[in-house]
Amino acid sequence: MLIHGAAGAVGSIAVQLARGVGARVIGTGRAADRDAALGLGVDAFLDLQADKLEDAGEVDVVFDVIGGDILDRSTALVRAGGTLVTIAAPPKVRPEDGRAIFFIVEPDRARLTDLAQRLRHGRLKPIVGAILTLPEAPAAFAPDRRTRGKTIIQVTGG
Ligand SMILES: NC(=O)c1ccc[n+]([C@@H]2O[C@H](COP(=O)([O-])OP(=O)(O)OC[C@H]3O[C@@H](n4cnc5c(N)ncnc54)[C@H](OP(=O)(O)O)[C@@H]3O)[C@@H](O)[C@H]2O)c1
Repeated sequence: MLIHGAAGAVGSIAVQLARGVGARVIGTGRAADRDAALGLGVDAFLDLQADKLEDAGEVDVVFDVIGGDILDRSTALVRAGGTLVTIAAPPKVRPEDGRAIFFIVEPDRARLTDLAQRLRHGRLKPIVGAILTLPEAPAAFAPDRRTRGKTIIQVTGG
């Protein structure tokens, strides 16, 4: 499986879930993301600025969070019968002999509870970018705000 943005907020969780079910994972990102991605358990890291995406070879699944040209070029990596999943934008190009899936996530109590349990038991490591108080919460959703990793909204003090 190839996971784009492997050290990002979504990608870092995807890497760990994929490794958890035994997938061999190639993570991608920028050079500065290499150590974080390897620390999360990727088997190989591809620097999208320095390495050639096409050198990743064929994979069963591509999970994309970047979109654009990277998404378009990733379709060619999908092995026959494989799947391209993107959460960035509806794909314009599809794998020749495979599925392409775009979706917008909907909150699901059962799945969130499962993720919370994994976090609690240390089976899932979040990359925490910022911890904000409840009054600061609206700022967390500002469209121009860029933070590495997940943002925690601390509802109670302490
Ligand atoms: N469809 C849905 O339901 C859904 C749900 C959640 C998120 N999303 C979308 O998914 C995307 C990712 O969200 P996120 O929270 O994981 O963002 P994030 O934490 O910024 O992670 C994205 C990662 O990809 C890297 N990256 C982006 N463009 C790159 C490029 N051209 N070359 C190399 N690395 C690149 C980023 O590096 P830099 O930070 O250095 O750029 C970052 O490490 C966002 O567009 C978000 O809106 C969609």
